[in-house]
Amino acid sequence: MIYLDNAATTFPKPRKVVAEMTHCLTHYCANPGRSGHDMASKMASRIYDARESIADFFNMTDPLRVVFTSNATESLNLAIKGILKPGDHVVTTAMEHNSVLRPLKELKGIRVTVVPADKEGCILARDVETALSPSTKLVICTHSSNVTGTILPINEIGRLCRKKGILFMTDASQSAGVIPIDIQAQNIDILACPGHKSLFGPPGTGFLYLRPGIELVPLKEGGTGTDSASLYQPRYFPEGYEAGTVNGPGIIGLREGIKFIEGLGMETIQQWERHIIEMLSDGLGNMPNIQIYGPSDPSKKTAILTFNIKGIDCETAAHELNHRFGIAVRAGYHCAPLAHKAIGTYGIGAVRMSPGIFNTEEDVRKTLAALQKLSG
Ligand code: ALA
Repeated sequence: MIYLDNAATTFPKPRKVVAEMTHCLTHYCANPGRSGHDMASKMASRIYDARESIADFFNMTDPLRVVFTSNATESLNLAIKGILKPGDHVVTTAMEHNSVLRPLKELKGIRVTVVPADKEGCILARDVETALSPSTKLVICTHSSNVTGTILPINEIGRLCRKKGILFMTDASQSAGVIPIDIQAQNIDILACPGHKSLFGPPGTGFLYLRPGIELVPLKEGGTGTDSASLYQPRYFPEGYEAGTVNGPGIIGLREGIKFIEGLGMETIQQWERHIIEMLSDGLGNMPNIQIYGPSDPSKKTAILTFNIKGIDCETAAHELNHRFGIAVRAGYHCAPLAHKAIGTYGIGAVRMSPGIFNTEEDVRKTLAALQKLSG
């Protein structure tokens, strides 16, 4: 199989990720922070190491404010539902995933302004500025679109929010691990991340970070291993927000994923993915029956190439690629309906190819040959 669905989750995972998870599961996978025995202590200490790795990687000041979640969706829900109150105004963008748009829709008593995107999926910081009001509590902006890969101007938006004293949250689902993020330099107050995409952890991992001083209402109540005599949920980080047993082996894997990136160098990963995307774009650009969406300049996006084949609906194209050619892609709306409206594919959807560091030039040649046949 040629795997071109890394925007959904990266595959394969680095060998060291698998090895360390296996070692954890076979040697010390006890429940961290619950019992005092050696295995539980070791697990707790490894999980703390993972918080530190994440904090170092993104230049966060306090590893204890890294809250582990099961994915970016949970991180975003926790932040959105734990920060906003009736009467608050939120500004977000048309390029957001449903993991932002749906929780916002669900909340009662808040006002939401969605900043529009252009045909390439880009938004302007000045449109964000225009959308702000005295009641704006939070601005939410994805770093990179999961539909087009378009990189959004988070530096400008972060500066703007800091100047106005408004909280700024970035969804780094498609960027963490491939575009450097320094939350202090970029004025990011809240960062939501999956662990299983370009950070190379397993599915079932993710985290939310809030800079010190931001208060949060927990999304769930339950056992924290602390203050167990009390019937009330503690409000301290991180336990107060991680009720229930955390995904220890997954978090161990996530830490190894970050080490893998550090070992290889993010720039090496980014350059290789750009090279693969350029090869794919050049090839598709020569096929008259294929329409490509999103930025044509690979430096303006992450490794995503979205397109349609004239006369073949996107789901059929993806099915054919899978069954006839052994190529894994994702078709449809990618859980981001407003992004599809922006690029003009609402009503038809599109096919998305998202290569990763493990794809080869041979993968590209085979994919282009398959698309040549399909698009005839
Ligand atoms: N959000 C993931 C994607 O874009 C699952 O495919």
